[in-house]
Amino acid sequence: MQERTERLSKRKNYIVIQGRSSPEIPNMVIDPLRPSTNARCSENAGCGYETECYSADMGGPTVTKVIIEPAAHLSGLITCPGDKSISHRYALLGALATGRTNVAQYSSGADCLATLQCLRSLGVTIRHHRGSGNDDSCIEIEGRGLGGFSASSEELNAHNSGTTLRLLAGILAAHPFKSTLTGDSSLRRRPMGRVIDPLRAMGAELQAKSNCPPVTIIGGQLQGIAWNPAVPSAQVKSALLLAGLHATGQTTVREPAATRDHTERALTLFGVEVARSGLAVSITGRAMPRARNVRVPGDFSSAAAWAVAAAAIPGSEIEITDIGLNPSRTALLNVLQRAGAKIVSELQSEKDGEPIGRLTVAHRALQPVIITPAEVPSLIDELPLLAALATHRGGGLTLTGASELRNKESDRITTLVKGLRAIGANISEQSDGLIVTGDCTLTGGTVDPKGDHRLVMAFTIAALGASEPSTILGADAVGVSYPTFFETLKSLRD
Ligand code: S3P
Repeated sequence: MQERTERLSKRKNYIVIQGRSSPEIPNMVIDPLRPSTNARCSENAGCGYETECYSADMGGPTVTKVIIEPAAHLSGLITCPGDKSISHRYALLGALATGRTNVAQYSSGADCLATLQCLRSLGVTIRHHRGSGNDDSCIEIEGRGLGGFSASSEELNAHNSGTTLRLLAGILAAHPFKSTLTGDSSLRRRPMGRVIDPLRAMGAELQAKSNCPPVTIIGGQLQGIAWNPAVPSAQVKSALLLAGLHATGQTTVREPAATRDHTERALTLFGVEVARSGLAVSITGRAMPRARNVRVPGDFSSAAAWAVAAAAIPGSEIEITDIGLNPSRTALLNVLQRAGAKIVSELQSEKDGEPIGRLTVAHRALQPVIITPAEVPSLIDELPLLAALATHRGGGLTLTGASELRNKESDRITTLVKGLRAIGANISEQSDGLIVTGDCTLTGGTVDPKGDHRLVMAFTIAALGASEPSTILGADAVGVSYPTFFETLKSLRD
C-alpha cells in the first residue's frame, strides 16, 4: 500500500496517514449532492482527514490512521451532528408521507446518507441543502404516500447501516415488487432472521442465505401480527411498526426490554396513532403519515464520547448544547454518575416530539462500575465508551449480559478486548461481556477498530489517557455517524 503522511497540526495532537486501501476495506457512501467537501481539506489543520476520506474522485476507498496524543485535559462548549437514529426515521416517514417534508440538521454520517441513497433508488425525490451550522444539512423529501415506492433497478446498498437495512425491509415487505437489500462486509455478516421471520409471518416473501444480507424481498399485502422479539432491538421493533403501518389490522410488538422509542415518537409526529402499554407498542395499519417540517436534535451517542472523555480525564469539563435527551437513550448519564463524574443535564424543549437540552460533564475521581444485564439495552451503543472509561486511572468495569454486542458493526466484545489490550489495558473477555480493571496507566500502541465507528471513538477516548501516543487504524470509519469527531477533539484540546 502506498502511503502519504501529513502533519496536520503544529501542536501534534494527531497526525494523519492516508493511502489507498485494499479492496476489503468497506467503501464509504458518497453523497452526490455534496461533492465539494474536498475543498475544505487544506484549511482544516488538524481535521482535514475527513474530507479526503469521502471524496468521490480518489479512485477508491482510503485508509486513515490517526495518531492520538495523550490529553492533559479537555474543555469547551460544543454541539454534535444530528441524531443518526432519528434522521433515518424522519427520512423514511417523510418518504412515506403525503406532501413535502423538510428535515433540518439531518445527520451528516454515512449511514444516514445510505438511507437517502436507497430512497432515491426507490423513486423518492430528495434534495439536500447545506445548513447553517458546522455540519448541519437540510433535506427536502417529496413524499410518495404509503405503498408509493417504485421498484429499484439495482440492489439497494445500505453500506454499513443496520438501521437502513432493517427498517427498509419492513417497508419493502409491503411493496408488491422484488427488492434486494445488501451492505458492506460488516453488514453482510449481521443477523437478519430477527426481521425476516416476523415479516414472513405478516405475508411477505423474504430470502437470505444463512439469514444474513443480501436479503431479497417480494412484498405484498401484509396482515398485522402480534410479535414478541427474542432480543430487545429498536431496529426490529421499528421494522415491524413500519410494516404494520401498511398492513391490515393491528400490529403489536412486545419487547423483552425497553429500547429507544424514536419510531413511536416519529410516527406520532407524522400524524399516525401509536398505542403504548408497558413494553408493548401497537399500530393500526393503513393510516397515512402526513408531511412535516422537523429538526433533528444532536446525537446523544456522539455526545457520549465527550461526556465519557470529560468524566475520564482530570481537569476536564465539557458542555454540549442542542442535544437529544430522550430518556430511552440517556442511561449513560446514570452510569457516569456512579463512576464519580459530575453531571448537569438540563431539558430545554420537547420540540418535534423529542426532548432536547444541554449537558455538562466534569471530571471527579473515578470509581469502578458494574453494569447489569437489565441496563444493557438502554446503553447498547455507549458500552464501548464505558469500556474506554474503565481504562482511565481509578476506573473499572464489569459488564455482563451484553452478548448482543457481538452482532454489531464488528464483534464489539472481541474487538474491544484486543484493541484495549493492545494499548495496555488490563481487560478480560467473557462470552457475554468483559471485565476491565483501571489499575494501570495505558502505554499506548496500535489499535484496529475493524471499521467500526463506535470503536474508533472508544479507542480514541481510551488513548487520551495513555502515557504515549496511540495509532488508530481505519479511523475514517468514524464518518459512519460522526464525520467531524476529530475536529471536535481538536477544539476541546485548544
Ligand atoms: C438503532 C438501534 C440499536 C443501535 C443502533 C441504532 C436504531 O440497534 O445499536 O446503533 O436506530 O434503531 P438494536 O436496537 O438493533 O440493538
